Amino acid sequence: MYKILYADKLSENIYRMVVDAPMVARHCEPGQFIIAKAYEEGERIPLTICDFDREKGTVTIVFQPIGVSTIEMAKLKTGDAFEDFVGPLGRPSDLIDTPVEELKKKKIIFIAGGVGTAPVYPQVKWLHERGITADVIIGAKTKDLVIMEKEFKEVCNLYITTDDGSYQRKGMVTQCLQDLIEKEGKTYDHCVAIGPMIMMKFVVKMTKSYNIPTVVSMNPIMVDGTGMCGACRLQVGDEIKFACVDGPEFDGFLVDFDQAMKRMTMYKTEEGRALLALKE
Ligand code: NAD
Ligand code: FES
Repeated sequence: MYKILYADKLSENIYRMVVDAPMVARHCEPGQFIIAKAYEEGERIPLTICDFDREKGTVTIVFQPIGVSTIEMAKLKTGDAFEDFVGPLGRPSDLIDTPVEELKKKKIIFIAGGVGTAPVYPQVKWLHERGITADVIIGAKTKDLVIMEKEFKEVCNLYITTDDGSYQRKGMVTQCLQDLIEKEGKTYDHCVAIGPMIMMKFVVKMTKSYNIPTVVSMNPIMVDGTGMCGACRLQVGDEIKFACVDGPEFDGFLVDFDQAMKRMTMYKTEEGRALLALKE
């Protein structure tokens, strides 16, 4: 069993849990994910690691309850435990394998959308610990949905934008990126975008036009996270890849987002039925 040492809410419907998982904490790197199972018959949920502390042996996850299993998971409190907490899985971010001296020469921008803000954090923190300060755009629908502002401010140059303009800049992340480049004279050599699929699709459309190589995280299409179910099959350039074993991060210029988004809708009927059963 994996004890939840601390649980809180980052917004009305976004949950954070710090889990006692020393083996995962010892070996994980930014970009990797874990599979959590709340109880014996529960579904396996792949979640990108949001933070880790090797000394304390803890791993932090952030999630939004959207299906039956994550709704059940959100009921867990400080002191409860996960039945299973397996990892680290997937490949670490490419940044980890890039020589630090090379990274120091690059101007890096991270684009974080909604709940996807959480998995951006360990990468930005990793860079900061090596003396590299990246720019980060956090995009959320409204002020109440902006998460981890304080944590990010300590490790990066932060730009926040809300769709409705209720906090800081107004507009989507793409508008903010365009303004930074065209109105504020910023230039970038590398972009990492993590958030809803539609956001990553439009970020890539824009970064392509500016010729800024862009990495995206295909975590949203994973189901079992083990390479067995085939749900996370992806067209990446001429190749077929599996998000859970070959990713979750890929070259955004090569990902077929339309196919990936179609694939995500495949399980909607089953999920809907399961949600109805939960309510009955
Ligand atoms: P959201 O719908 O509130 O969107 C967040 C931000 O993304 C918006 O504020 C906007 O700035 C930007 N955005 C959305 N649509 C856009 C568009 N068409 N063009 C440009 N920018 C756009 O996000 P949410 O509801 O918090 O997101 C939940 C989704 O995030 C889920 O689908 C989940 O799968 C995904 N997610 C992805 C990862 C990952 O690793 N990629 C991790 C966690 C969550
Ligand atoms: Fe099942 Fe990748 S999530 S094969």
